[in-house]
Amino acid sequence: MIHGILLPCLIVLVAVQGIRGLNNGLALTPPMGWLAWQRYRCITDCETYPDECVSEQLFMKAADLLVSEGYAAAGYNYVIVDDCWLAKTRSADGKLQADEKRFPNGIKALSDYVHSKGLKFGLYEDWGNKTCAGYPGVLGHEETDAKTFAEWEVDYVKLDGCYSNVRLMDKGYPEFGKHLNNTGRPMVYSCSWPAYQEEKGMLINYASMAKHCNLWRNYDDIDDSWDSMIKIADYFALKQEFWAKFAGPGHWNDPDMLLIGNFGLSYEQSKTQMAIWAILAAPLLMSNKLSDVRPEFKAILQNKEVIKVNQDRLGIQGTRVFKDKGIDIWTRPIEPVRNGHFSYAVAFVNRRVDGAPYAYNITLQDLGLTNNEGYTIQNLYDQENGLFCFNTLKTLVKVRVIPSGVVFLRINVESSKCDQDTTKKKYVFI
Ligand SMILES: *[C@@H]1O[C@H](CO)[C@@H](O)[C@H](O)[C@H]1NC(C)=O
Ligand SMILES: *[C@@H]1O[C@H](CO)[C@@H](O)[C@H](O)[C@H]1NC(C)=O
Ligand SMILES: *[C@@H]1O[C@H](CO)[C@@H](O)[C@H](O)[C@H]1NC(C)=O
Repeated sequence: MIHGILLPCLIVLVAVQGIRGLNNGLALTPPMGWLAWQRYRCITDCETYPDECVSEQLFMKAADLLVSEGYAAAGYNYVIVDDCWLAKTRSADGKLQADEKRFPNGIKALSDYVHSKGLKFGLYEDWGNKTCAGYPGVLGHEETDAKTFAEWEVDYVKLDGCYSNVRLMDKGYPEFGKHLNNTGRPMVYSCSWPAYQEEKGMLINYASMAKHCNLWRNYDDIDDSWDSMIKIADYFALKQEFWAKFAGPGHWNDPDMLLIGNFGLSYEQSKTQMAIWAILAAPLLMSNKLSDVRPEFKAILQNKEVIKVNQDRLGIQGTRVFKDKGIDIWTRPIEPVRNGHFSYAVAFVNRRVDGAPYAYNITLQDLGLTNNEGYTIQNLYDQENGLFCFNTLKTLVKVRVIPSGVVFLRINVESSKCDQDTTKKKYVFI
C-alpha cells in the first residue's frame, strides 16, 4: 500500500519541475468540445442518412446545439470535423478541398458559421499520403496545407497518422507544427504520433511530443463500449509512470473521446468515464448526437464540479494509486494548495461484478494526505449530500460503489480545523 501512496507525490515533483511545452499560448487547460468521429465515423451517404452523414449540416447543427443546450456555457467550445470531409482529389492548384456535395459552401463558410456562434473550429488531416479513410493526406503539401488551414481560420488541427512512415513521425510532426506556427495563426495542434509508435512497440519521445503538440493520442481509438473505455483507462494506469509527467498546461495526453450520451455506456458507467477523464486531465471531446442526449446524461457532461476538476489550473495529471478488493482508486492533485499541501480529486471505481454496491473504507492518511489542519470532502455526483469536514487523518472514509460505477470526491485542504467536525464518529459514510 505504501508503495502506491508514494507514486502521486513523485509525479507531482516531476511535473512541477517543468516539462517544456509547446509555446503557442493555447490549451492551457484540456480542450473541450465536440468531435464527429466516434459517433458518425465515415457516413457519407446523405441520401439514406441525411441527419448523420459527414456534411456541413452535421457540424452547423452541432454548433447550434452546443450553444442552445448549454454545453458551450459549460466550456465545450470546439466543433471539430474528423475524417471524410475531403474531396477525393486536390484542386487544380494543389489545394485541399471539401467534398462539394456534402460541403457545398466550403470549409471557410463552415468555419465562419461556427465562429458566428462564439465557438472555435477544428479540422482533421493526416500526416501521410492519405487520411485513414483514403482521402488526400498532407505529405508533400505540408506548407500549402498549413496555409490553407490558416486561410480557413481553423483553430484546432487534428493530424492523424495513417499511410505514413511511423519511423519518420518524430521529424514529420514537429515539421508540420513549424508550418502551422509560420502561418502566424494560433491553432491547437493535436498529434497522433505516439498511438502509431506505441502499436509498433517503439520507444517514444514524449518530451518532444510535449514540446511540439498541444495534445496527443497515446493509444487505440475508443469504441462505444465499457470494455473499450476501461481498456484505455487500464493502459493509462499501466503507463502512468512514463506518461503523466509530460502533461501540463498547453500539453496533454489524450485517451480519446467521451462516449457519454451514446449507446454503449450505462448511466453509472458514464459517470465513471467522466471521473477518470477528469483525473487524467484529458481533453473532454464529446462525440454524440447532441439532440438526443437524455437529461441525466447531459447532467453528467455538464457537471460543473467535475469539469472544474478536469480544468484544474495546475494541470497535473492524476494516476491510479491502488487496486484493492476490486476497487480502483484514482487520485489527482488539484487546487487549492495550502502550506505546501495539495487538495485532491479521488475516484473510487468498482470493477467487481457481484451485484450489490460495495462498501469500501480508507483513511485520508492511507490516501496519502498529510495536512494536519484538516480537509473538507465534497461528493461531486451527489452534491446535496453536503460537505464533510475532517479534522483528523485517521477517521475512516466509507464509500459505497455500484458495480462499474464510481464515487467521485473532491478533498479540499483547509487552513484551519473546522468547527463542525464530522469525524467525531468512528467513520464517515459518503
Ligand atoms: C507516399 O507516396 C510517395 C509518392 O508516391 C511514395 O514515394 C512514398 O513511399 C509514400 N509513403 C508512404 C509512407 O506510403
Ligand atoms: C510560434 O512559436 C513561437 C516560439 O515558440 C511562439 O512564441 C509563438 O507564439 C508561436 N506562434 C504561433 C502562431 O503559434
Ligand atoms: C473497513 O474495511 C475493513 C476491511 O475491508 C473491514 O474489516 C472493516 O469492518 C471496515 N470498517 C468499517 C467501519 O466499515
